[in-house]
Amino acid sequence: MNYFKDILAVSLSKEIETFTKNELLELIEVPDPKMGDLAFPCFKLAKVFRKAPHMISKELVEKLNFNDEFSSVKAVGPYINVFINNSALLKYFKQEFTDNKILKPLPRLNKNIPIDYSSPNIAKPIAFHHIRSTVIGNAISNLFEFIGYDLKRINYLGDWGTQFGKLSVAFKKWGSEKELDEKGIKHLLEIYVKYHEESKNDKTLDAEARKLFKLTEDGDEEALALWKRFRDISIKEFNRIYDILGVKFTHIEGESRYAPVLNETIELIKSKVHTEISQGALIIPLEEENMPPVLLKKMDGATLYATRDIAAAIDRYERFNFARSLYAVGSQQKLYFQQLKVVLKKMGYDWADKIKHIDFGMVKGMSTRKGNLVFLEDVLNEAIALSKEKILEKGRVPESEIDEVARKVGVGAIIFGDLKSSRINDFEFNWEDLLNFSGYSGPYVQYSYTRVKSIMRKSDIKDYTNADLSLLKEDIEIELVKELLKFPEIIQKAAENDELYFLAKYSYSISKLMANFHRFVHVLKAEPELQKARLFLLSKVADTIQTTLSILGIETVENM
Ligand code: ARG
Repeated sequence: MNYFKDILAVSLSKEIETFTKNELLELIEVPDPKMGDLAFPCFKLAKVFRKAPHMISKELVEKLNFNDEFSSVKAVGPYINVFINNSALLKYFKQEFTDNKILKPLPRLNKNIPIDYSSPNIAKPIAFHHIRSTVIGNAISNLFEFIGYDLKRINYLGDWGTQFGKLSVAFKKWGSEKELDEKGIKHLLEIYVKYHEESKNDKTLDAEARKLFKLTEDGDEEALALWKRFRDISIKEFNRIYDILGVKFTHIEGESRYAPVLNETIELIKSKVHTEISQGALIIPLEEENMPPVLLKKMDGATLYATRDIAAAIDRYERFNFARSLYAVGSQQKLYFQQLKVVLKKMGYDWADKIKHIDFGMVKGMSTRKGNLVFLEDVLNEAIALSKEKILEKGRVPESEIDEVARKVGVGAIIFGDLKSSRINDFEFNWEDLLNFSGYSGPYVQYSYTRVKSIMRKSDIKDYTNADLSLLKEDIEIELVKELLKFPEIIQKAAENDELYFLAKYSYSISKLMANFHRFVHVLKAEPELQKARLFLLSKVADTIQTTLSILGIETVENM
């Protein structure tokens, strides 16, 4: 609708000298559809014009001049309400959607955005709550890529730290090659848990673990080889999950990347900011900022998460000269990322302002009989199995495609469920809602898409390029056209707020309009020219849903 907003703003700016066209553009609202397509509130003009807003709206309406873009321009109280002329609307619609211009990614900006997401800790299965960082980070990456940025999709694995000393000890004592082959990281988890039980009574274990990790840090070949094995096995298993989810990375680089530069980093920090030794540990006090201190090095000499993140932030700036640097990490680490930024700022790095923590709420309501540790892979498989049951019940999908469709629907349900409300909210996990084929859910939108595609398949008309859209006269058709034209504004809003629910909501509102369309409008029974016009519209509905879902990281299916 930007085009029509623009026309209205230009025309207003001819009458209102104290505001620029762009300022006027900002003021234009999209009101309740019954009131108009666009509305201009006159409150802000009252001071300048020294008149009541409802007087101003009346006077302005008299003066405004348009071609044939608007069918009605009326003063309603303090507002000017505008209806767009259908023929102008349809002409514009055809123009924007020819070759799907409006749905194409924006021109490249040649600007980099590194984004840190998923970032699980190795040597244990990915827990279900990691779904949030994975899915939000992936979708945010798609969104910024769409608007022209070059994304550096980083999986910053938790692959360094004293726990690997413990795991090495555990593996030497209780590990089994056979079980490692069969169970993969679940076996590593088992022996790690055993370590914790045993180490309560046997104090020598911790000392041994420290020794082993020190060896790893010092580059001892054998120790490193074992660590590398844990890492390789983990990555292989993680990739299996990312494949199910359809999530991709361009950089798999964990905390271990910074192991070789940790001492330098600490020296650099010391040379730029005030550090202290507190109870044997090296810290950066942040009293002035009213924050707890940042721990750089523990008493036993072990470096910490924060130290590695400082090194990583600098490294990312040096490599990517980023326009923004994003971290999709839960709200529990909010204070931590504030500290990280403060430290980088104190070190004199102005680019620290470009760092943004894309924070989000927790996963709630997901537990199993086994307790708190719910594995992501199990939940995905469950979602796929449940979708499969539903799809089998409906009987519309050919046998050979069922598994692939079930994957797309099951995974889509979880991704949509995660992204459908503001990320700050907790993700309230509820199977019923996620898989509700007729609610605010992924399957509902995917299903809406399949209905549209099925009509397109059934018609003999396959080429709609020269459709005469002026034949679209039903209210629901016009409503759909207006909704589809909102696509660029929705993208913009989502990107400005780093919020994906704008896109989820949008795909849902198109789907709801489509439900109405099916109730009132016939396509296949309409005479050929009208049929062609309607098919043009439907094909654009399908393309818009598909583009929107694909940014969210959700695939469409042809049948379900
Ligand atoms: N590995 C961490 C965890 O599982 C998340 C890392 C987030 N990224 C970062 N740069 N600190 O909690």
